[in-house]
Amino acid sequence: MRLWLLLLPTLALAGADQLVIPAGLDAYLPVPEQNPLTREKVELGKKLFFDVRLSRDNSVSCATCHNPKLAFTDDRPVGVGVAGRVGGRRVPRIVNRGYGKSFFWDGRAATLEEQVLQPIQNPKEMDMTLEEVASRTGLPIERAQQALASYVRTILSGDSPYDRYLQGDRNALTTEQRLGLRLFRGKAGCAVCHLGPNLTDERFHNTGVGWPGDEGRYAVTKSEPDRGAFKTPSLREVARTPPYMHDGSRKTLEEVIDFYNQGGNPNPALDPEIRKLQLSAEEKAALLALLKALSGTVRDGM
Ligand code: HEC
Ligand code: HEC
Repeated sequence: MRLWLLLLPTLALAGADQLVIPAGLDAYLPVPEQNPLTREKVELGKKLFFDVRLSRDNSVSCATCHNPKLAFTDDRPVGVGVAGRVGGRRVPRIVNRGYGKSFFWDGRAATLEEQVLQPIQNPKEMDMTLEEVASRTGLPIERAQQALASYVRTILSGDSPYDRYLQGDRNALTTEQRLGLRLFRGKAGCAVCHLGPNLTDERFHNTGVGWPGDEGRYAVTKSEPDRGAFKTPSLREVARTPPYMHDGSRKTLEEVIDFYNQGGNPNPALDPEIRKLQLSAEEKAALLALLKALSGTVRDGM
């Protein structure tokens, strides 16, 4: 059950004042009925997000992997948790995840409330039990959970050159970036999956990255076409946060564009929209320039 709140001024009625949504995002931020957004919860959630007591050896907080200076990700190929334990997947940027429809690369969590407890209990990330977190922080776990999810909802990115262009400022994008946008929506087919205000369809596709390896969405659905499929990531702030893909295997955006240009990594479950693109060097450069226009202002809290 989701309550679609019209933020200004309706959010004030729900007890939350002044959550400013950056330009370019949907003015509606979905907030679950059971966890209305309040300033108090957001502030508590922010404290917990930076609190190393949520980890076994008091060395890791959510922000260790989700660094606010890097659009809430880090710069490593895969996450590293307590005692240097190495995980299996790239840390996602967490911006505009309040608009998300499922969470994690394989979508195994349906809500942010469900999501935020998993890193705490993951032996390779924070390695705690929920009881231990409750006793260390003196908070009932439901309160910590609601607060963390509320804070994550307020982490927003918008106001990028791309947003300003869509709002009518023709000069917000350079000529090269405008060519990039035409390719993104046309010849290169990127917008088939990377669409809407957050440049994601929130669905799962097999592009062949890492194949054969991580089974991705298959682990959740046990459906063969989902083997090796991962959630389309939002491309907001993407140019600032290498490396890329669920396994961090692509070091630069140039490598990502070359990967798509060659038709992904062919395999039996490859998405039909992934095909050879025949992009010229000039067209690849234009796509790259466009991706750089997707970085704007990142804000958190209220
Ligand atoms: C050790 C590094 C690490 C720590 C600590 C960590 N995360 Fe993450 N986070 C990850 C990785 C890696 C993923 C993706 C895992 C996957 O898809 O299986 C992820 C996924 C997420 C997502 C889903 C994003 C999306 O787009 O689907 C959210 C939200 C999130 N983390 C929030 C948190 C919060 C809140 C905390 C603290 C309670 C936290 N993380 C602690 C590494 C970390
Ligand atoms: C069929 C759907 C689909 C199409 C078409 C598509 N993508 Fe993606 N994109 C994805 C998925 C799914 C991922 C994650 C793949 C993975 O990690 O296994 C992804 C990942 C990316 C990433 C890495 C983001 C990150 O945070 O690691 C970039 C950049 C990207 N795509 C850009 C593009 C561009 C540019 C195009 C057009 C040339 C394009 N995509 C076409 C679905 C698609």
